[in-house]
Amino acid sequence: MQTVILKGNSPDNICQAARLIHEGEIVAFPTETVYGLGADATNEQAIKKVFIAKGRPASDPLIVHISDVKMLKGIVKEVPEVARLLMEKFWPGPLTLIFKKTDRIPGSVTAGLSTVAVRMPDNAVALNLIAESGVPLAAPSANMFGRPSPTQVSHVLDDLGGKIKMILNGGPTEVGVESTVLDITCSPPVILRPGGISRESLESIVGAVEISRGKDKGLPISPGLMKQHYAPKARLLLFEGRNRDKLLASMKAKVRELTRIGKVGVLVPEEVRADFKGLDIEIENLGSFNDLERVARSLFSRIRNLDNRGVDYILTLAPPREGIGLAIYDRLYKAAGSRTIEVD
Ligand code: TXA
Ligand code: MG
Repeated sequence: MQTVILKGNSPDNICQAARLIHEGEIVAFPTETVYGLGADATNEQAIKKVFIAKGRPASDPLIVHISDVKMLKGIVKEVPEVARLLMEKFWPGPLTLIFKKTDRIPGSVTAGLSTVAVRMPDNAVALNLIAESGVPLAAPSANMFGRPSPTQVSHVLDDLGGKIKMILNGGPTEVGVESTVLDITCSPPVILRPGGISRESLESIVGAVEISRGKDKGLPISPGLMKQHYAPKARLLLFEGRNRDKLLASMKAKVRELTRIGKVGVLVPEEVRADFKGLDIEIENLGSFNDLERVARSLFSRIRNLDNRGVDYILTLAPPREGIGLAIYDRLYKAAGSRTIEVD
């Protein structure tokens, strides 16, 4: 199959993509977080294609994307007051809410759960595509299952080229990590996956919000989220500790050890880049830990860059777990196979 790449800002191209959706095909499109792989959420056959293209297990439910709050009717049984407040403040935007579902959404979308995840993306191409299609779009991130999420067209092409008919190009995505998944069917609401909207921002609107504790580290787990996720081909080692000097010394010792047996890359904030000069390694700049939004924006493409340079190991540093830093930490932790190397 040939994968056609079309500019997302042309109404003609949006119409073509919407036609494919109607025919039960799947189309990759940009959102503000990462690229999604969209299918008509009411069409079982189309949903099946999404799971097959991604190699995704059926136990991992999909997020349903809407372009207008009116589309909620028919998808969800009720809209709790907490959801209303959050939708008003954060939609369109990187917040996914879990509702009780109606029968219109097939069980294959929700992995058999009685709930459905819904969000309204803050991206004109995505909103136009959904509106033109006239149906909610079920869309996971447009990467092969387990791989880092795609934040630009080349990432989608690397993973799904030849497997899907069309990619709408909207340039690099703005947020860079996926939406926050929040369960509002319980009280207080529970974060199942940290993402583009921080816990602090949610709490400023609805008061206390909990983090589901599926694992050590207090990191949340969504259904279907595996221990190893967002992973590069290289083995990723996540270093963590309060004493910066000890942390860097330990990382450098590990770099020396590993360069004897393979090619090493480091993914570090610019604050510590100079510490790795003169070593025979690939260095990727993570941005500054004083600007975590920027770190999030380029996180997945930095990881993919290192993979493309053929490294066997990637050593990286844990960011502060505040604001969007919690989502960055979560992605690195999962990419490292749910392990850290603690130094103190
Ligand atoms: O930013 C995003 O959310 C991107 C863009 C494309 O919208 N989408 C995305 O989808 O990240 P995906 O499939 O990679 O991740 C969906 C997450 C999974 O962690 C899944 O477990 C959770 O949403 N989820 C979906 N339905 C759920 C449900 N009914 N209950 C709990 N979690 C659910
Ligand atoms: Mg994903």
